[in-house]
Amino acid sequence: MTQKLIINGGNDLSGEVTISGAKNSTVALIPASILADSPVTLEGVPDISDVHSLIEILNDMNVKTSFEGTTLMIDPTEMVSVPMPSGKIKSLRASYYFMGALLTKFGQGVVGLPGGCFLGPRPIDQHLKGFRALGATVDNEMGAMYLKTEEDGMKAARIYFDVVSVGATINVMLAAVKAKGRTIIENAAREPEIIDVATLLNNMGAKVRGAGTDVIRIDGVEEMHGCHHTVIPDRIEAGTYLIMAAAKGKDVTINNVIVEHLEGVIAKMEEMGVPLEIGEDYVRITKPTRPLKGVSIKTLPYPGFATDLQQPFTPLLMSAQGESMIVDTIYPKRINHIPELNRMGAKARVESDVILIEGGHHLEGAEVKASDLRAGACLVVAGLIAEGQTIIGGVDNILRGYDNIIDKLTSLGADIYMEDREEEQGDN
Ligand code: EPU
Repeated sequence: MTQKLIINGGNDLSGEVTISGAKNSTVALIPASILADSPVTLEGVPDISDVHSLIEILNDMNVKTSFEGTTLMIDPTEMVSVPMPSGKIKSLRASYYFMGALLTKFGQGVVGLPGGCFLGPRPIDQHLKGFRALGATVDNEMGAMYLKTEEDGMKAARIYFDVVSVGATINVMLAAVKAKGRTIIENAAREPEIIDVATLLNNMGAKVRGAGTDVIRIDGVEEMHGCHHTVIPDRIEAGTYLIMAAAKGKDVTINNVIVEHLEGVIAKMEEMGVPLEIGEDYVRITKPTRPLKGVSIKTLPYPGFATDLQQPFTPLLMSAQGESMIVDTIYPKRINHIPELNRMGAKARVESDVILIEGGHHLEGAEVKASDLRAGACLVVAGLIAEGQTIIGGVDNILRGYDNIIDKLTSLGADIYMEDREEEQGDN
């Protein structure tokens, strides 16, 4: 038996939904918290399986935690550096943040190569380039990274990233907060999650300036202490609900959003003709009176259109008129959702890493599989639009990143539930 997500499609969505704290912030804030010498309290933490995996990793290293409601307390005062070559560490991408954090905390660490969604190649060369520039030695042995600093710790450096990388920017921030002197990161990523991590680090006593721009300056400090920090709202979860509302909404309000973080997706929806009302911390979407128009989308580093929303956006383009196109410049091979959508009656194809979508085709429920987190979100959107029943496998991938998705969608009027089903022969 295996868990499947069942959606009986076609229901209009109405009502309000509140967005949770950002997954991609939280998964960096948790490893960052170990740098304090007293407890850190994170508020607004989403209840997703990636968070539970990180908590288990912390507990293995003798970090005390309590997670109640959306408040996560992390007490790293008795923490020990345990080698983590395998196990949980390989189950999620963000475990790579322990590399930077352990280098700063203990001057050494053994961390297995990270897992996470398969989106094509996901190298970490820029992370390692940063660690080495700060004076660490890094060796890859049998799929685990062995990291070590010299006796007197990390030394500040000027680091130019060859690729704009969220993970490398945050990881090098974590490795540099206590390095002696001023570290300068050039060509840094500018995602809101980087500002969130810098805010936590500064509240802990670090001196990080310029997060949110492409040059970040870090003056190394000797001590870091506990603090309270509230996680920013999840712009990708918000974008996903915007898409669902645009696809099937009669009148849906998405609360607890930072509108500036959603500019890329909102701009494309406006171009399509989605009726939007934009408030200070909410977006309301009502039913379009005219058919939506197809658009071209190119994913780019922030503030461009987020790669994480490309897959959930695809079914919306299928219900629009005319042809649409998606070019994912961050992960050109993030295309696993296309064959699944075609099983549901879509007409989409990939030519030289460009996704071409013929609009105006009705989707029909089918048995499909979520190969990764955002492909899963895409199939949920498709299931809501489709006529009949959609049965989605690979549910774990969806629960890695969407807090309480079944209850949130049920309260909007969707017919969605989890069920144990027989694994079918040839189940894809
Ligand atoms: N890259 C390199 N070398 C590196 C690092 C990255 O070549 O050392 C390349 C990647 O292959 C990619 C580009 O740089 O082409 C950007 O990758 P980035 O490092 O920014 O991605 P990431 O930090 O591994 C985070 C999110 C992803 C999101 C990307 C892009 C987390 C835990 N993950 O990944 O989120 O797609 O940034 O915005 O923060 C998701 O939430 O579904 C997800 C996959």
